[in-house]
Amino acid sequence: MNKITFTIATMALMLCSCTFNSNNDMTENPSIKTILNRKSVRKYTEQKVEKEKVDLLVRAAFAAPSGKNLRPWEIIVVDDTAILKGLGEQLHNAPMLKNAPLAIIIAGDTVRSSYWYLDCSAATENVLLAAEALKLGAVWTAAYPYDDRIAVIKSFVPMPDNIQPLVVIPIGYPLDPNKQPMDKYDESKIHYNKF
Ligand SMILES: Cc1cc2nc3c(=O)[nH]c(=O)nc-3n(C[C@H](O)[C@H](O)[C@H](O)COP(=O)(O)O)c2cc1C
Repeated sequence: MNKITFTIATMALMLCSCTFNSNNDMTENPSIKTILNRKSVRKYTEQKVEKEKVDLLVRAAFAAPSGKNLRPWEIIVVDDTAILKGLGEQLHNAPMLKNAPLAIIIAGDTVRSSYWYLDCSAATENVLLAAEALKLGAVWTAAYPYDDRIAVIKSFVPMPDNIQPLVVIPIGYPLDPNKQPMDKYDESKIHYNKF
């Protein structure tokens, strides 16, 4: 084999190997890894979340799909420690707010869209995924459909009557950065062409 043939053969081999790897290593794709690694994180360090990261979390929320593209969401960023502590003390489903440096409340306009809670759910998942990608920890804590929780949230962050908080997302740097996601893959729930 002369030098040129050898070089071409080597390059072809490298190309094949790249294609082969990219087809077989799809779980290494950063977006797929983020989705598969997302987990609820309820314990945080005291480290503040940088403004650049807060902005990205908010941008992620706005990137969500929404029915008829009505985007009925309102995003409330909470970094006031008195509000976080008060919410954590009064929301029994979300005591971790007491020690979180940040929370994002996703609320929806119930008049603007009857899909508001679905659209806000999509926005919420986007924030959770962005948090995972930015090495932050976060957890969905439900406000809607519980009237008592909604009243507590509105007592700390007053909102118009047509705006309902769907969720409060406490966010911070995870106390345990090695926490692993639950394996929830369940073959018995997969159906091909028939139930
Ligand atoms: C609609 C919804 C409501 C939830 N509400 C709460 C909540 O109020 N408090 C809480 O600590 N976790 C809440 N979670 C988080 C779940 O407990 C968590 O997603 C589930 O245990 C699976 O764990 P994982 O997120 O680590 O995969 C909620 C999740 C969803 C989707």
